[in-house]
Amino acid sequence: MNIVLSSGKTIPVETHKVRIVQKTFLVPSKRRLQAMEEAGYNTFLLRTRDVFLDMLTDSGTNAMSDNQQAAMMVSDDAYAGSESFYRLADAVKDVLGFAWTMPVHQGRAAEHLLAKVFVKPGDFVPMNYHFTTTRAHFELAGGKVLELFTDEAMNTQSSVPFRGNLDVKKFEAAIKEHGAGKIPFVRMEATTNLIGGQPFSLANLRAVKEVATKHGIPLVFDGSLISENAYFIKTREDGYAAKSIGEIIHEMMQCADLFYCSGRKSTSVRGGMICTNRKEFYDRLLEWLPVYEGFATYGGMSTKEVEAMAVGLREMTDVNVAGISPQFIEYFVSRLVENGVPAVTPPGGLAAHLDAKRFLPHIPQTQYPAGALAAAIYIASGVRTMERGTISTDRDAQGKEVLADLELARLAVPRRVYTLSQIEYAVDRLTWLYRHRDLVKGLTFVAEPPVLRFFFGRLEPLGGWGTTLAEAFEKDFGTEC
Ligand code: F0G
Repeated sequence: MNIVLSSGKTIPVETHKVRIVQKTFLVPSKRRLQAMEEAGYNTFLLRTRDVFLDMLTDSGTNAMSDNQQAAMMVSDDAYAGSESFYRLADAVKDVLGFAWTMPVHQGRAAEHLLAKVFVKPGDFVPMNYHFTTTRAHFELAGGKVLELFTDEAMNTQSSVPFRGNLDVKKFEAAIKEHGAGKIPFVRMEATTNLIGGQPFSLANLRAVKEVATKHGIPLVFDGSLISENAYFIKTREDGYAAKSIGEIIHEMMQCADLFYCSGRKSTSVRGGMICTNRKEFYDRLLEWLPVYEGFATYGGMSTKEVEAMAVGLREMTDVNVAGISPQFIEYFVSRLVENGVPAVTPPGGLAAHLDAKRFLPHIPQTQYPAGALAAAIYIASGVRTMERGTISTDRDAQGKEVLADLELARLAVPRRVYTLSQIEYAVDRLTWLYRHRDLVKGLTFVAEPPVLRFFFGRLEPLGGWGTTLAEAFEKDFGTEC
């Protein structure tokens, strides 16, 4: 809940209390340098014992509620026909309005099944923007992803509220060029992860749906952050301020022929699902579910998580649940901007993002500025962030480097996990790093996997800048932190 203080300043205030805590450690900068070297300058390869604030992702790291934990205790561990599944299916009917629900082990499993069933070699899949696993699955199936973002999408210093919109004119042109028969579906991602968690508007979703319907193209809705997107519609789109998150979600779902999500985000569990009202789609997907995931009533998820997902789905319609991360992110971004640190605006869902092209303008994209920034942030603060730029974009079929549209370092704000003082700590160290940005240079790969290279790739700092940065930090802050 945003509260205006007597000073006029707005701060997010939690509408929950913390009843279980987990200890974290701030290891000294010398150890952070060593840990970064051991991790090959890839924040995915750090061990959490060396991480102070884990802002790598909000995926599977949100704090669950007491009711979710309680639901896990009454889960029905049956291989087939589990009551836990029926409680999830009921929640889906109530919250999303779909008759058919298929659990899967996580979001990319849904993408795998959708690719297997719907995408053929030579197909085109238009979307407001891809996510890494989405593109990998659709392209492995022989399809080509069409990124139909608007002109404003790549402006990291924008005040446009819906930078995640799909450009409807580009969609119409793509249908004209390739033919509707080559387009198995159009995909809308709520919110666009790689554009900085930027939402789309309901007006845009409706316009996309109208064009899709005209050409008989189904609309696939990636609802991994559906409640956050609904929160942005409520707070940014004309005419929705008085509507509840639940009502807005229902309106969005009127446009979706197929819904899938990573349950690891909006529903605060570890799992995923595909839902639809079109029985023929469900039946085609169901054929493959037991091959890759599991029986229809658990789909690779633990029944404990199925129960918790049913509760999480209902809870995400509470405005204080849907809004908590966006409000913390808004505060985080405003503090960074106040200090002159180049954060992406407007703030979106899931994370505060730094624009590495503006933070480290001296590093060319071929030397991975966002990767260098993520490594430098860890050395300077113990905060773990994620590179979302060229390292996260695999080479093309000819082995040529593909430069990402954006170079972002992502500071994820998992729901209900970190406090404002921890955010203030991060702001301070990021500000210090910005003042010492000249010490940070590029990276080069020493081991580069061919697919989703960002997960396991190992890199080296050009000119050994990690040591110089750690020394500068120690000079200002001493040896302890
Ligand atoms: N779609 C979106 C929009 C996502 O953000 C993710 C995951 C997926 C699909 C895949 O789901 O991880 O459950 O298999 N995003 C995570 C992240 C990994 O860190 O942002 P998954």
